[in-house]
Amino acid sequence: MVVLQMVLLLCAGSSLADDLFSPNVNIIAELEKLKNMEERIQKLEETLTKVLSENEALKTLEKDSQNKMEFFQKENEAKKVAFSAGLLESGTGYTGPINTPKTLVYKKVFSNIGGAYDPNTGVFTAPVKGAYYLRFYGHSHGGTTMAVSLLKNGETQCSLYSWKPTSNGNASNGVVLTLETGDQISTRLWQNTWVYDDPASYTSFGGFLIFPL
Ligand SMILES: *[C@@H]1O[C@H](CO)[C@@H](O)[C@H](O)[C@H]1NC(C)=O
Repeated sequence: MVVLQMVLLLCAGSSLADDLFSPNVNIIAELEKLKNMEERIQKLEETLTKVLSENEALKTLEKDSQNKMEFFQKENEAKKVAFSAGLLESGTGYTGPINTPKTLVYKKVFSNIGGAYDPNTGVFTAPVKGAYYLRFYGHSHGGTTMAVSLLKNGETQCSLYSWKPTSNGNASNGVVLTLETGDQISTRLWQNTWVYDDPASYTSFGGFLIFPL
């Protein structure tokens, strides 16, 4: 009782003391409330941390799918490879005969999707590894042989041939090749043979990527 009186004296004038010792305040209950509040704050903190880390994970996922989409877009672009060209851009005439083989340079470009065919050199360069279909067609007039081969990196793959036709010659060939990126395809007129072309584009070269590998 004496101790309580002393405390009361020490705290005289303090409203806190008045409250604390007022019969209306239950200290145990107040402490309990504080403890509950602390627990709730702790739970909130945990939830917040979780939400923040989930947000980070989402951001990473979003970046990942963005990268994947860009990759597929690029891959899809690379898949678009197709070209077709006629020998003469304009006019009428023969190419050959000359006494050395000659790479045919097809000037009249009908399509060149992907830009892999070079109308200055007559060479198609595979932009991606894949299975390609390549074909060529030759037309010529009588008297002189017509012979053309399709070459991969300078090596003959297939040919067309018409031996001194009486009126005119038509021949074609085509091949499916597995090409590596950078492989070069061209067609070569044999020595002492000829082909003919005019605005109807009888003599032509073309190909396309069937699917990448
Ligand atoms: C070659 O093709 C042309 C054009 O289609 C045609 O006029 C000609 O008769 C053909 N030649 C032969 C020998 O079939």
